[in-house]
Amino acid sequence: MTNRLTIRQPDDWHLHLRDGVMMESVVGVTAQHFCRAIIMPNLVPPVVSEADARAYAARIEQAYRKASSSVGTANTATFTPLMTLYLTDQTDPAEVVSAYGNGVIKAVKLYPAGATTNSASGVTSIDNVMPVLEAMAENNIVLCIHGEITRTSVDIFDREKVFIDEVLGPLRQRLPELRIVLEHVTTEHGVDFIQAQSKNTAATITPHHLMLNRNHMLVGGIRPHYYCLPILKRAAHQKKLVAAATGGDPRFFLGTDSAPHTASTKESACGCAGVFNAPNTMSVLAHVFEAVQALDKLEGFASEHGANFYQLPLNNRTMSLVKQNTPVQHAEQIQVGAEHVVVFDPGEPLYWSVESVN
Ligand code: NCD
Ligand code: ZN
Repeated sequence: MTNRLTIRQPDDWHLHLRDGVMMESVVGVTAQHFCRAIIMPNLVPPVVSEADARAYAARIEQAYRKASSSVGTANTATFTPLMTLYLTDQTDPAEVVSAYGNGVIKAVKLYPAGATTNSASGVTSIDNVMPVLEAMAENNIVLCIHGEITRTSVDIFDREKVFIDEVLGPLRQRLPELRIVLEHVTTEHGVDFIQAQSKNTAATITPHHLMLNRNHMLVGGIRPHYYCLPILKRAAHQKKLVAAATGGDPRFFLGTDSAPHTASTKESACGCAGVFNAPNTMSVLAHVFEAVQALDKLEGFASEHGANFYQLPLNNRTMSLVKQNTPVQHAEQIQVGAEHVVVFDPGEPLYWSVESVN
């Protein structure tokens, strides 16, 4: 029986670090395991300019240094935030090209207006951003998409499919050279769409969508800490995602979508969407991959496919994971000032844990 696994150090291709005291509380957890992360720009106000992205990167760096020094970690690994800009109807193509050319950003994020947390300034119609997308295609800049339609008449469980049919499919045809990542794919339809493309199209997958389906969230009581967007789907979709993640296809890679909200804002009559999974992502992934006898595919999914798609070098460090006979105890929450954030509960005992990063 395999009880130890060493892989190239992973990266997180979709991460919410927030800002201020929240960021100071969560950044260290990601930096402990991941070498790099694509940082989502949905702050309030959003990260829309090169100057915003520069300033946010500097705050992340500062928070990361503070976090490392406060735990007195001997781990000298560095953490590199890969910044993104938040696309709006007003985004100037020149701003995006300059931010990318100056090495400040690695991608641009498209939120349909109103689709998710802090997306009010998002895009109202693809036509409004075509000049930006054309400039991105010309300059080889990756577009990350939150793929959900926001029309109120569309059922929340169908929003990814309708977005693909109405927006992503046509965009894919209109701009074949644009490199697109469909973020946090959650449906069979989404996986099929990615696999049907001949080039320039990939998707991230979250640990929680691999581990859970909507029954986990809704049967026997409603579990607000499982509420995220795109919402958990039925078990058949979960199965398809597991097959995509564990199948070795380079078009699928890890994006945790770790999205911390304080417990009080989630355990509410109108709770926020987001799962905070950064602390146990690697344990969850090893569990999921082992369950389908695909531990040999974990390195590709977590540590190689994303870097290759983003055309970035692979990490040199390695991560060792070990499997114990008894369940791993992860902290159930982390403190954020006077409040706390609840850590993702995978719903099953986990036996794998990260032993070291070297
Ligand atoms: C994210 C957040 O809280 O910022 N929430 C979530 O449920 N995933 C936003 C997002 O990625 O949709
Ligand atoms: Zn997200």
